[in-house]
Amino acid sequence: MKRRSVRSLLAPLVAHARELRGVHLRDLFRDDPNRAERFSLEAGDLFLDYSKNLVTPKTMQLLFQLADAVHLRDEIQAMFRGERINRTENRAVLHVALRMPRGSSLVVDGRNVVDDVHAVLDRMSDFAERVRQGQWRGATGRPIRHVINIGIGGSDLGPAMATLALRPYAARHLSVHFVSNIDGTHLAETVRDLDPQETLFIIASKTFTTEETMTNAQSARRWVCGRLGTAPEVVRQHFVAVSTQTERVVAFGIAPENMFPFWDWVGGRYSLCSAIGLPLMIAIGPDRFRDMLAGFHRMDRHFLESPWERNMPVILGLLGVWYNNVLGAQTYAILPYDQYLARLPAYLQQADMESNGKRVDRHGRVVRWQTGPIVWGEPGTNGQHAFYQLIHQGTKLVPCDFIGFCRSHNPIGDHHDRLMAHFFAQTEALAFGKTPEEVIAEGTPPHLVPHRTFPGDRPTNTILADQLTPSVLGQLIALYEHKIFTQGVIWNIYSFDQWGVELGKQLAKRILPELQSEAEPALSHDASTNALIRRYRQRRAPPTKDAAR
Ligand code: F6P
Repeated sequence: MKRRSVRSLLAPLVAHARELRGVHLRDLFRDDPNRAERFSLEAGDLFLDYSKNLVTPKTMQLLFQLADAVHLRDEIQAMFRGERINRTENRAVLHVALRMPRGSSLVVDGRNVVDDVHAVLDRMSDFAERVRQGQWRGATGRPIRHVINIGIGGSDLGPAMATLALRPYAARHLSVHFVSNIDGTHLAETVRDLDPQETLFIIASKTFTTEETMTNAQSARRWVCGRLGTAPEVVRQHFVAVSTQTERVVAFGIAPENMFPFWDWVGGRYSLCSAIGLPLMIAIGPDRFRDMLAGFHRMDRHFLESPWERNMPVILGLLGVWYNNVLGAQTYAILPYDQYLARLPAYLQQADMESNGKRVDRHGRVVRWQTGPIVWGEPGTNGQHAFYQLIHQGTKLVPCDFIGFCRSHNPIGDHHDRLMAHFFAQTEALAFGKTPEEVIAEGTPPHLVPHRTFPGDRPTNTILADQLTPSVLGQLIALYEHKIFTQGVIWNIYSFDQWGVELGKQLAKRILPELQSEAEPALSHDASTNALIRRYRQRRAPPTKDAAR
């Protein structure tokens, strides 16, 4: 598909930004009484108000033209058709197939992958129910009470985020834990108070080679076998795997019938709906898990079918491009006003930054425009007492997504109204600020007026839903997945590889023997790295085999 360079496509927006210089959100709201209505929409159960953005109808029109100019519609359809759009790894990108309803069809290389998806979901459901009902027993006959997922990146963040998010739906007689860090502290602290007889490990790794996961898995196996013995039923009853790599799973000692597969067309950071979601399914049960998949699918259809003006992921993506590429924002903040979404910013960091943190375009040329932003955030209201100062009065432009719910799962006292009062107040304060005149009118001494003035004009999106249900979570995550896709298309980059994580891994492989050798190694790094390694060798504790004593 032929397309013009990103810089020339952005030129009309750059010119338009000049026209808007000096126009404040206060002016835009004053001049258009219908602004809130004009710039809000519903998709499924999500309501988006994007009226507190630094945009006019013309801005949106130019952004929609940009979407057309990059052939976004064709690119979306190519993904949904199962084309190999992950060209650098020669793979299809089909997380959308993971949530297609039973009986639908998507044929890749002659196979209807939806049948495969549902066959695995059925096996997962059966297994999850057996664990939940106490029918899956440990080697000594005790039911499972603790599930520990060992995985990292996409094999951890999605299920960890969602298991916390959907805790109100979880079986309370089971505890589900996530161990990711190769720092032995993570595993040691997780198993410290658990009984291996009642503990099931899920080793989750697409490749089954990831160093962190395999190191933790081996230590977990030592922890279990050291206490329960090495009879075959010990590993069989206490370890299952989620992977695309049967041979490696078997080599680890896990039988194929205890492995839940997925496929190379599922990217790690897009894998929550695959077997990678097994710990979540054990926590909330197969029916709730399927509700979540239905929520994802609902947003998938919305993305595929809606015109740009009603297309929520496309609108979020375009607004992000406006700030990132035209108004010079470096970051954007995800601010969920729900404690259950505490891990959402971390999850979206991987989804966004691993996808769109790219420096060359699809032709391998170094880009001359900004690509993915820095994503960060904390749940409200904690962030208000930490970093909101900078968003309100600092020198940087930080667009924010505020995510909130009308109903709490824990309606104690008036906590929820108080929480939501802050939720609404923050976007109002950020947009409209407080003028020097208003500050003076409050009787503020003149020397404090500049300090107490809020410039406002700080852009926010507000995403509001009735309640954080499994379906709503699915819709929310799919919303961000497709927003990221939209931006990757505009920036003309490949969003589904992650070569940038390789170099550090390779260097660590070289350094490990230098840390562990008994004889002083000949170091040939730079002077800084050599000196740091020597200092570490002099001071380190003697090595121990069992990290999870
Ligand atoms: O960080 C790189 C990465 O490849 C991620 O993309 C992936 O989610 C993670 O490592 C874990 O990979 P795996 O599931 O193969 O262990």
